[in-house]
Amino acid sequence: MGSTVDIDALRGPHFTALPPLALYVHIPWCIRKCPYCDFNSHEARGDVPEDRYVDALLADLEFALPSIWGRKVVSVFIGGGTPSLFSAGAIDRLLAGIRARVPLLPDAEVTLEANPGTFERQKFADFFAAGINRLSLGIQSFDAGELRALGRVHDGDEARRAAESALMIFGNVNLDLMYALPAQTVAGVQADLAAALAFAPPHLSFYQLTLEPNTLFHRRPPPLPDEDTAADIEDAVHESLARAGYEHYETSAYAKPGRRCAHNRNYWEFGDYLGIGAGAHSKLSLPDRIVRQLRYKQPKQYLAQVEEGAPLVEEATVARNDVGFEFMLNALRLCDGVPSALFAERTGHPLALVARPLERAVAKGLLEPDPAWLKPTALGRRFLNDLQEMFLAGPRRGPGAPAPLVHVEATGVER
Ligand SMILES: C[S@@+](CC[C@H](N)C(=O)[O-])C[C@H]1O[C@@H](n2cnc3c(N)ncnc32)[C@H](O)[C@@H]1O
Ligand code: SF4
Repeated sequence: MGSTVDIDALRGPHFTALPPLALYVHIPWCIRKCPYCDFNSHEARGDVPEDRYVDALLADLEFALPSIWGRKVVSVFIGGGTPSLFSAGAIDRLLAGIRARVPLLPDAEVTLEANPGTFERQKFADFFAAGINRLSLGIQSFDAGELRALGRVHDGDEARRAAESALMIFGNVNLDLMYALPAQTVAGVQADLAAALAFAPPHLSFYQLTLEPNTLFHRRPPPLPDEDTAADIEDAVHESLARAGYEHYETSAYAKPGRRCAHNRNYWEFGDYLGIGAGAHSKLSLPDRIVRQLRYKQPKQYLAQVEEGAPLVEEATVARNDVGFEFMLNALRLCDGVPSALFAERTGHPLALVARPLERAVAKGLLEPDPAWLKPTALGRRFLNDLQEMFLAGPRRGPGAPAPLVHVEATGVER
């Protein structure tokens, strides 16, 4: 018997309009590597080559122009690493170079990630003058003991000073905090919440500390709270932030009304993003396919490769069988979910592609039964991984099948 070809599996996407396009810029250096961090970040030994790196970023952007030709950029996120290690002059040159090469919407959100250990008032004011209109500050905790246990380069007072000035300069500020920290109690997280809320930031990200492979904490774990305490801590976070008027709009993100992060929202709504810089990921929709790209990860190699005109280490077309999972992986992180119509708009395929897992998820009580909306139930939010994995079950999935190239790291997503 001859082999048969599954025509359906070969059919590419059909877009009525391409998704919104965001730009991510990765800056891979930090003062010191934190023991829990698996981001593509490297300890800066001596001066960082900021001029050469900005040149490389702009050359990288030029290399990418044919794949985004004519498209407007809706937001920029400069993440890391610690982008605030760079001088304001370097960030100014970077933003001017970006504006000269791509049409950035006039009201585009332009975020910079910063570490309180790099805080200098004048420098942050100069970042603002350069066009940064949102600052994402890596606080982690205000507690001196926790900050030491996390190996942070700043103490609680520096975190407070940086938060206070950031709010005065930028107004539009996100504070990154983590919970379920070494030996943390419910009273401990409440003290952190009170300290954060005293600044009334428009946006807060609260991540549960995870032990990531290839980190020092993974090899030598600190004494983390047990599962019950971690659950109580999480409940305390949700309750305090809801009481203080924050909308819990994504797994780890909380915002005052109207202050959600536009850049991250675009990821969760399966928008497009071009990622430039060492180890940056991109997801780009072309008229006949969706591609994912990865750039060289090691800063030195990235710099050399850009100078050779070849920054990509990997490029792959998203298979038809993976696109449903990839869409759901992102969209189901949003507490309100997304309109069902967004699936076809952003994947280029009809929702029928995932009809079976959708039915199963509704039957299990993980997804709301509303046909007009893809929204996780409270149970679905609690067992989000299980819900997302239900969409993995394509015919090509199985032992040995390649995993889809989906990453939250090096896209700037506040995870
Ligand atoms: C790239 S860092 C941003 C800012 C800057 N690098 C800093 O740390 O000050 C992004 C955020 O990811 C969070 N993060 C990093 N590693 C984590 C882990 N293992 N578990 C949970 N959150 C983590 C931290 O809250 C951190 O602020
Ligand atoms: S948590 Fe932030 S400062 Fe620490 S190593 Fe990671 S990127 Fe650098």
